[in-house]
Amino acid sequence: MVSTVLQTLYAVHANLGQLLKVIEDEIERTGAGQLDPDIEMLTLALEYCLEYPGQFHHPTEDLIYDRLIRRVPQLAGEITAITADHKTLSQLTRSFCDAVARAIEIDETKFLYTEGLAFVQHYRHHMHVEEAEIFTAAHTHLTPGDWSRIEAMARISVDPVFTERVRDAYLALKDRIVARAAQGPRYPDNTGAGQMADQIESKLVELGIELPQAAAAVANYVTYVIDGGQLWIAGQVPFWNGAVKYTGLVGENVSLDEAVDAARICALNILAQTKAALGDLDRVRRVIKLGGFVNAVPGFTDHPKIINGASDLMVEIFGDKGKHARSAVGAGGLPLGVPVEIDAVIAFD
Ligand SMILES: [Fe+2]
Ligand SMILES: [Fe+2]
Repeated sequence: MVSTVLQTLYAVHANLGQLLKVIEDEIERTGAGQLDPDIEMLTLALEYCLEYPGQFHHPTEDLIYDRLIRRVPQLAGEITAITADHKTLSQLTRSFCDAVARAIEIDETKFLYTEGLAFVQHYRHHMHVEEAEIFTAAHTHLTPGDWSRIEAMARISVDPVFTERVRDAYLALKDRIVARAAQGPRYPDNTGAGQMADQIESKLVELGIELPQAAAAVANYVTYVIDGGQLWIAGQVPFWNGAVKYTGLVGENVSLDEAVDAARICALNILAQTKAALGDLDRVRRVIKLGGFVNAVPGFTDHPKIINGASDLMVEIFGDKGKHARSAVGAGGLPLGVPVEIDAVIAFD
């Protein structure tokens, strides 16, 4: 049976996930500047994220992690990383708070988009890692005695997660925010694009191409930056929905064909990030540049053939708009042992 503490944390995560989706929808909906963002709703949603799950559920998680480290010392690295990540989350939350404040005070909304998405994506990734790796380990390895001690300590520290009055107040706030978001205005359908809309999406369906989920950043950087009509996308590796699809060295244990496929998957991740950033792939005006890195045996010279896996895909999907400048270089090692990494610069309307 799952302990009450863990059940409560799963519920906190589920509520928070709902709020993050509301925030993400709102900033994506207004990202193109066609509508003013619903600042009051964003402020309330942030207040919820800051006050309820952000500030209070982490101490309860710390109680679990302390005991889990003692029971399973091999998990020390992961637990230390996720604990440190709570600091990063606080920083990202503060930056997004600042962006909301700028929008209110000086009507400057451009930071809402980048700061908001960085906040949403990082929080989501954090909760995913906790649930997938740490909560499950805690469930397996902690004893009933551990759980009752954790629960007692969480109650002593008056974590509102365990205080019905506070919890109910926050849940009511969350429901208000979600309801308000559901009724919020949508993009006016006045683009004159009607039947032209979703051209790229239809093309993807036609070509049988599926996009992965946009991966969250794995260190202290953001997955993309938008500046003056240009979208700069951080290096993408052959990730498919959270799992690395290829590792190894080209020419040793990765064949040329596999490396070409790895490059294609990097490009699909670039498209997933583009969609997360712009909301709509039809907004791509031009793929400006791809930067390709290949981890191959010494003396290898076919880097361009490998990066073609990404370049061909861009042209297949975007036609002339997909033709780009490019570099294809060898790297003496790449993160996570992947054979290929590709970054991109994209111009958009
Ligand atoms: Fe956490
Ligand atoms: Fe958490």
